[in-house]
Amino acid sequence: MSARNSVNRWGRVSQSLHWLIALLILVLGVVGLTMGELPRTPKYFWVYTAHKSLGIAVLVLVLLRLGWRLYAGAPAPVPGTPTWQKRIAGATHGLLYALMFAIPLSGWLYDSASGLRPFRWFGLVEVPKLSGPDPQVVAISHAIHEYGFWLLIATVLAHAGAALYHHLYQRDTTLVRMLPQGSLTSRQKD
Ligand code: HEM
Ligand code: HEM
Repeated sequence: MSARNSVNRWGRVSQSLHWLIALLILVLGVVGLTMGELPRTPKYFWVYTAHKSLGIAVLVLVLLRLGWRLYAGAPAPVPGTPTWQKRIAGATHGLLYALMFAIPLSGWLYDSASGLRPFRWFGLVEVPKLSGPDPQVVAISHAIHEYGFWLLIATVLAHAGAALYHHLYQRDTTLVRMLPQGSLTSRQKD
């Protein structure tokens, strides 16, 4: 399989970024929702810094992904896909991209406006603050971070449901072409 996207399938770069980012978002969601319950030991602060550092890493990966998407393009729609499905898929992918930016950015803004000490990205470099202490910015950015995450989960469920529907009922290559070649079935040739 080529690194670039072909007319028929997503290449290695797009696939790797798609599944790596999906996995990291899942991990960040689970950690984000549970870390507030941890006892206030040094580990508590370690987990918070790990969440923030990994979140910033996801932001960088999403930037790379968008850059690659704009540079390398996308495969053509699976033959026979009706226009309404193409429109809904396009809108869903746009929303997913918007949320993949909004969630880490709002987390970063929330952290900045909370007036906490600057944190070091994986202990290496100090991450600059996006704003000074501001309770209004704290409230808005926290709401975007939390509700944006639940909107992302709902959108991903619809997105993954559509991919499985294509695979199981329409029996087309929509899902297979986002998977490493040879996995699931050989329905797709390059
Ligand atoms: C894609 C990346 C990220 C995801 C999916 C994510 C997800 C979450 C989730 C689901 C929560 C729990 C929300 C709640 O119920 O309050 C949370 C909390 C939090 N996140 Fe993130 N996060 C991401 C990136 C970041 C980044 C980049 C930062 C900061 C630089 C950050 C800082 C925080 C903080 C400080 C909290 C605790 C909020 C509180 O005190 O209630 N997150 N995150
Ligand atoms: C956090 C989770 C996820 C996010 C943020 C996400 C996001 C996206 C985006 C933005 C695209 C458009 C392609 C691009 O421009 O890169 C895409 C394509 C795709 N996604 Fe996901 N995805 C997630 C999880 C999943 C899951 C769980 C599945 C399946 C079970 C899935 C299946 C697919 C497939 C098959 C495509 C290709 C669609 C096509 O060729 O038209 N995704 N995804």
